[in-house]
Amino acid sequence: SVPKRDVAANQLSQFAKEHQNDKESITTTFGAPVGEKDASLTVGYHGPVLLQDWVLIDELAHFTRERIPERVVHAKERVHLGTSRFSQVAGELGYPDTVRDIRGFAIKFYTDDGIWDLVGNNQPVFFVKDFALFPSFIHVMKRNPKTHLRPDYDMFWDMITLRPETTHTTLIMFSDRGIPNSYRQMHGYGTNTYAFVNAQGTFVYCKFHWRSNQGVVNLSSEEAERIAGRDPDYHTRDLYNAIESADYPSWNFYIQVMTLDQAAKNSYDPFDDTKVWLHSEYPLIPVGRFVLNKNPKNYFAEIEQIGMDPAHLVPERTEKSIWCPFTFSYLAGIEPSPDRMLQGRLFAYADTHRYRLGPNYIQLPVNSPFKMHNYNRDGQGTVISQGGAPNYHPNTFNGPHEDVRAKALSPALALNGIAKRVDSGNDDNFTQSRMFYKNVLKADERNRLITNMLTWLLPTTVVLQERAVAMFSNVDQELGRRLREGLKTRQHVDL
Ligand code: HEM
Repeated sequence: SVPKRDVAANQLSQFAKEHQNDKESITTTFGAPVGEKDASLTVGYHGPVLLQDWVLIDELAHFTRERIPERVVHAKERVHLGTSRFSQVAGELGYPDTVRDIRGFAIKFYTDDGIWDLVGNNQPVFFVKDFALFPSFIHVMKRNPKTHLRPDYDMFWDMITLRPETTHTTLIMFSDRGIPNSYRQMHGYGTNTYAFVNAQGTFVYCKFHWRSNQGVVNLSSEEAERIAGRDPDYHTRDLYNAIESADYPSWNFYIQVMTLDQAAKNSYDPFDDTKVWLHSEYPLIPVGRFVLNKNPKNYFAEIEQIGMDPAHLVPERTEKSIWCPFTFSYLAGIEPSPDRMLQGRLFAYADTHRYRLGPNYIQLPVNSPFKMHNYNRDGQGTVISQGGAPNYHPNTFNGPHEDVRAKALSPALALNGIAKRVDSGNDDNFTQSRMFYKNVLKADERNRLITNMLTWLLPTTVVLQERAVAMFSNVDQELGRRLREGLKTRQHVDL
């Protein structure tokens, strides 16, 4: 069939025509002009983001409240050492499981020293690397606010081609891995860079990996489309049935470790989540195994109300600390790294939970740690009373005290640099994309990747098609040529 641009597909072009002479600048929600929209305010290029970056907090706090009553991203779910939840980034509840998208892979660990959430995806990289770009990026994956249609190919390709750091993840999304056959048959990745601190207070950086023991199996686009019509809950059904039939899916858990010295000399930015850490340089170190062996008793109570959060990290050394064969020590605690996306995530999740589930979401059984003693009180949904303990600190009436272990291990972070917004978009976006396209994919996988990309590129405007061809030519001239030809040989009608 000949793809035609209908009126809905043309919504943004129409808007652009009508607003050719507009000269409005971006403002914050309270009307102040914004000078730099695409970079967060960090202390030095690799430093953490400052709380005084109110431009971004203003946007992020609004973003986390966008959806009522659903999750703002990853609404389409599923399930259970902890508790796990699989999801789809852009689909709403009820959206078909088998659409092309990144899948969420999130696990909540209940440890003696608090909750640790590893909130990852089924891809090792993400589209953008500065959280300043995240709300806009999610907007282009979701519905057009005027037509309420999804996908809106113009929104999608506009943003993708304006931000070339999206190249790597875009190629992965359009490869076979963009539509897994089941949640059981995909790997999981923490994606962002974290840090471990050992009992001596020494830091290393790390990445987390789950490798499926069921193998990786994907669906062709055609099969996925057929299944979407027949069984929109295909992945959810598969997982439920497997667990109920005691065919328990499992994943082996690995870490990659990078020392501070290695990080300083690494040829690519170790805190850039559009890049992988090469396995040849940073081998996978086996740590454990994870088995899903129980479905929730009540879906809403245990899955809809779960509050995952990358800021839920366990800082102290515990009896159950992970032994790291690389550094020959216990990995005492997990800390954030300066990874700019992770820095934004540290704020966003609890913020969205306080909004979606209420300020005391942590007291819901699925989110609750084994113990909680602090100076928070009251608020909507309070269940835990904390008895008659004092509600102020410091006090002399035996309220909970500071933990000397945790204090001793709080690592000092040397920072050096000026606080500034530096756009991170342009450092080598193509070397790893090229490695993926040329070395990881086989010839038939490359063919399917191109067909899948063309399916999404054909409905967009000629200007955006040309920009996409130019961008992907930077990955590989042959890829650019094949996209150009694929677009030429099929009729395309711009309105
Ligand atoms: C869910 C924000 C990047 C994985 C969410 C939610 C928000 C959010 C607000 C909804 C949480 C809820 O209502 O329960 C952000 C922001 C990001 C970011 C601001 C960047 C600055 C990422 C990245 C990954 C990721 C890089 C993967 C490594 C997930 C997953 C969920 C989720 C798996 C679903 C959690 C669940 O199943 O309960 N994110 N996200 N996000 N995000 Fe992100």
